[in-house]
Amino acid sequence: MKHLKIVALASGSGSNLQSIIDAIEKKQLNAEISLVVSSKRKAGVIARAEKYNIPVIVVERRIYKDNIRGFSAKIAQVISDFSPDLILLCGFLSFLSEEFCQLYENRIFNIHPSLLPAFGGQGAYGIRVHRMALKAGVKVSGCTVMFVDAGQDTGPIIVQKCVPVLEDDTEESLAQRVMTAEYQAYPEAVRLFGQGRLSISNNTVKISQRKDED
Ligand code: GAR
Repeated sequence: MKHLKIVALASGSGSNLQSIIDAIEKKQLNAEISLVVSSKRKAGVIARAEKYNIPVIVVERRIYKDNIRGFSAKIAQVISDFSPDLILLCGFLSFLSEEFCQLYENRIFNIHPSLLPAFGGQGAYGIRVHRMALKAGVKVSGCTVMFVDAGQDTGPIIVQKCVPVLEDDTEESLAQRVMTAEYQAYPEAVRLFGQGRLSISNNTVKISQRKDED
């Protein structure tokens, strides 16, 4: 597996980033987190990154209001010095501009707490996604790791993991079960990327056979 330089974008606690850090520490991933960009000044991800001496830059989303292009351009500017191989959205509560998605085409991953295309798009993030799943009465839910394109949760799907939805589930209990699946799915997808095993054709990801040295 090639050594990956990763930049993570986050807005919250960053527990998904932790799953990547843990996989790196256990040598399951040959990678480093070069930089964390937080879109909120008080996000829990900042202390988490500092604990591992990972540099953090705050680019506040609220300052840019509806100017997604300006916000994305600022992020592109701060991360360019780090030359990332891969950008991971880890609970990042903003969409990114078309220009940004083109600049890092096929090198941005996101993780979403549902089985896309169900319960995605504008307004579908965090606990709201589980509210939508419970309201729809689905019997299974799960998580999706996908490439990020200029659409809203529309990029090619890399890994999905299912969990059951139980009759007495609350938003929180379902979120917790899905989160456990997320911590498996994100490192798995990053590893496939590092192994050079992902290709995209017709918006579908193909995963090639594993080579022995990986
Ligand atoms: C995760 O459940 C992630 O899938 C979700 O936000 C949470 C962030 O938690 N992302 C989205 O809803 C994206 N649309 P974390 O900050 O502890 O990783």
